[in-house]
Amino acid sequence: MSFSITTERIILSDFAQDDYPHLCRVAQDPDFRKYVLVWLDSDEQIQKFLRHAIDEAQNTDRMDYVLAARTREAGVFAGITFIEIDRLCPTTAEIGIVLLPEFCRNGYGSEILEAYLRYGFEVLKMHRVFGKCDALNLASVAVMERCGLTYEGTIREHVWLRDHWRSTKYYGMLAAEYADRQS
Ligand SMILES: CC(C)(COP(=O)(O)OP(=O)(O)OC[C@H]1O[C@@H](n2cnc3c(N)ncnc32)[C@H](O)[C@@H]1OP(=O)(O)O)[C@@H](O)C(=O)NCCC(=O)NCCS
Repeated sequence: MSFSITTERIILSDFAQDDYPHLCRVAQDPDFRKYVLVWLDSDEQIQKFLRHAIDEAQNTDRMDYVLAARTREAGVFAGITFIEIDRLCPTTAEIGIVLLPEFCRNGYGSEILEAYLRYGFEVLKMHRVFGKCDALNLASVAVMERCGLTYEGTIREHVWLRDHWRSTKYYGMLAAEYADRQS
């Protein structure tokens, strides 16, 4: 049975093989290339990413939900998202969101992050949910702060990302903090 999470305007659902052209568009987006630590530089890497997303969806002990964001109204592809349970520390999950440029700055990022927080804490019963981003990525920082995640620290210049040493900012929320927000 296919999996989905629905927000007010977006459906997050499993990838299919015919999403390949959509991934190619994401891979060419300048913001994706500048800020996101996912390698979709070659056809082989894009196919591997897609295969992983599709294979994980079949897994009965699913740890990694790599989901396409599509508009509810017309089913238009809007971006790549995920919530991934840490295999070594299965009470923690990471959330990631990458939207195509035409979907940025319309509140979709916040809407999706809120939905994943809800899924992470209420369904997966995580103790901690976190997101991370390039320290230069102001949009990503703004979304995580807007959704109430706490800044946890920066790992400085730990990886070369195409044209710069990337420093990574971590933002997290604990189950008790999520519960406080609901009350
Ligand atoms: C990061 C991203 C997911 C944010 O989603 P979004 O839908 O654009 O964000 P929202 O519209 O929900 O905006 C949330 C906040 O971020 C702010 N924001 C959005 N884009 C911004 C930008 N480029 N610079 C500064 N602030 C920005 C908004 O003003 C808003 O702040 P507010 O609550 O004070 O009004 C999206 O911009 C994106 O996918 N970017 C390209 C890829 C990427 O960097 N992904 C993140 C990888 S970690």
